[in-house]
Amino acid sequence: VNLKPFNSFGLSTFAKRLVRIRSEADVRRVLDHPDLGLSPKFILGGGSNIVLTRDIDDVVLKLEVLGMRLVEARHDAWIVEAGAGEAWHALVAWTLEQGYPGLENLALIPGTVGASPVQNIGAYGVELKDRFDSLDAVDLVTGRTVTLTASQCRFGYRDSVFKQGGFAGLAGKSIITRVRFRLPRPWQPALEYLELQRKMVETGITAPDARQIFDWVCAVRRAKLPDPAVIGNAGSFFKNPVVTEEQCRDIIGRDPGIVHYPMPDGTIKLAAGWLIDACGWKGKSIGGAGVYEKQALVLVNRGNASGAEVVTLARAIQESVYGRFGIRLEPEPVVV
Ligand code: EPU
Repeated sequence: VNLKPFNSFGLSTFAKRLVRIRSEADVRRVLDHPDLGLSPKFILGGGSNIVLTRDIDDVVLKLEVLGMRLVEARHDAWIVEAGAGEAWHALVAWTLEQGYPGLENLALIPGTVGASPVQNIGAYGVELKDRFDSLDAVDLVTGRTVTLTASQCRFGYRDSVFKQGGFAGLAGKSIITRVRFRLPRPWQPALEYLELQRKMVETGITAPDARQIFDWVCAVRRAKLPDPAVIGNAGSFFKNPVVTEEQCRDIIGRDPGIVHYPMPDGTIKLAAGWLIDACGWKGKSIGGAGVYEKQALVLVNRGNASGAEVVTLARAIQESVYGRFGIRLEPEPVVV
């Protein structure tokens, strides 16, 4: 099976076996299967956060668990559940239509519901962990369904237990089938992010409702992020690096224009897009892999890029940012 349609970068690599998973029972059927049971497994969601550089020998489990429902209307929150295979943006739109606001800042993020906790997706001042209740996952060894709370998911900046390897991590060990969200009542808008502040000034709307914020977020994203259906990409390719105050002072001394944000714990987050832009990478290419013209943090597939070209471009960017600023950029998607 060519995996090109199954990853948002549109990279062409092949999988020997691909199994569509529509329920927890489907996972157990695979585990009990004489052939597939003991083979290594590769879990594929919306494929919007991976860079495929090789063919996959593992059995690819493609998550297609569907369904969206209100689980509970508590006095202080709506609890909503969605299947891992639902498209993330469709869930955001559905919750707003049903009158359960709270996910509007996360509109238009590519990928599936099941992938959203893996990297703790975030945008415009809200992270998944701020709206998370719990999730169901099937253990790939025992076949048992377990429920994980937020603390068990160990959410961090674009990170969770599902990205972590080793004894304590769950990377490759379990498969998320359903996610429940906790949408606080009464609803409160999250408007701190600079670009939303700008929209308020521009439109003169000082008390936007959730639908208005949804529309603003969609407009901001469409203006500077490429639509993966048109130009292959995996969103931000690098995490925004976090440095100490001294390190930051040192860099500002040399580059006063650097975009940086103080964090609650005293550290400082630098805009990786600015660092890459400052090194002159915007619009550049290596083979079919390029740096997006409107946002240097996003690498794109200009046509027939290979995973290797994407990785080569990423390394070249890392080297030049390190050379100029002494900062190591960490990739955000999972490189396979
Ligand atoms: N900038 C430049 N040149 C560039 C790109 C950015 O100077 O080419 C500057 C911008 O002017 C801006 C700053 O860098 O002042 C930050 O850029 P932006 O506000 O676009 O946000 P970001 O740091 O690039 C992060 C997330 C996005 C998320 C946005 C909005 C990460 C790695 N990325 O991007 O998430 O949508 O904030 O909240 O944290 C993703 O993870 O895939 C993703 C798209």
